[in-house]
Amino acid sequence: MEKVILDVDTGIDDALAILYAVESGALDILGITAVNGNVPLQNVTKNTLKVLQLAGRQDIKVYPGASEPYLKEAQHVFHIHGKDGIGNALDDMTVEGTEENLFAADFIIESVNKYPGEVTIILVGPLTNLALALKKAPEIAGLIKRIVVMGGAVDCPGNITPAAEFNIHADAEAAKVVFHKGLDITLVGLDVTSQTMMDLSDIETLAGTKYYDFIKQSTDVYRKYGEELYGRNSCALHDPLTVGYVLDESLITTREVYTDVEITGELSYGQTIADFSNRLGQQPNMKVSLEVDSGRFVKHFIDTLGNQKS
Ligand code: BDR
Ligand code: CA
Repeated sequence: MEKVILDVDTGIDDALAILYAVESGALDILGITAVNGNVPLQNVTKNTLKVLQLAGRQDIKVYPGASEPYLKEAQHVFHIHGKDGIGNALDDMTVEGTEENLFAADFIIESVNKYPGEVTIILVGPLTNLALALKKAPEIAGLIKRIVVMGGAVDCPGNITPAAEFNIHADAEAAKVVFHKGLDITLVGLDVTSQTMMDLSDIETLAGTKYYDFIKQSTDVYRKYGEELYGRNSCALHDPLTVGYVLDESLITTREVYTDVEITGELSYGQTIADFSNRLGQQPNMKVSLEVDSGRFVKHFIDTLGNQKS
């Protein structure tokens, strides 16, 4: 089984990505690292513990990481993910587990040193934790198997500004660090994730299964936001698609290209710029995602979660 670390800012779609990864049965999840992002770090950590408890997987440890971006001020998106970050769907749950004492960046360093060349890091929040790990221990760059990042928009508009996608915009300086360390990077951006819409009708097919109530309730606020944005009561499975790609690379068509992130522009801060015509004459530093088989992916996601009895 592929060894993975999930780096999350839970987040409704982060919660879905965690459940998908856990229930896929195909990943050896070494641990989950939490980062400030959609909501403040303490909510992220608590939400992650709750989601693991819902899944009955308290054996998976949660490592709290950066509570602020690398340089800029934190910005949160309660209007998309609800007051607590998971649409208040688990308000009645008492958290049984506790977070680890080890800082997320140190857990990343420790794990990569323990399993050189074997660890895939799936990042579905701002890239602060990995940037901090790379600054503290630059030698781990050569030891990480690959990273798969939900972030950016290389050939479509942004979702937090006209130019930028949320995870990259939330900490563009951290993204800048991560993009230029010679890592094997796949960027799963809005170009593909915004095509993976889950409708209420998809959710209804889960009725009677383990995660139906959680998915229906948690996505309520998220689907309303989708209605405003896309005119459709549905939500984009941004973070789950990133896990989906690790489970089955054939879901996404990628292209190797030199890509950088803007950190100085007033209107373009956080924009991911892929040099498709090689104007900069640089070697490709990542694979960016251009097309997705969304029907096959959404079905696999729903089937994986729907297979769990309540
Ligand atoms: C990304 O931003 C967050 O709000 C989501 O959790 C996802 O990781 C989409 O732009
Ligand atoms: Ca996220």
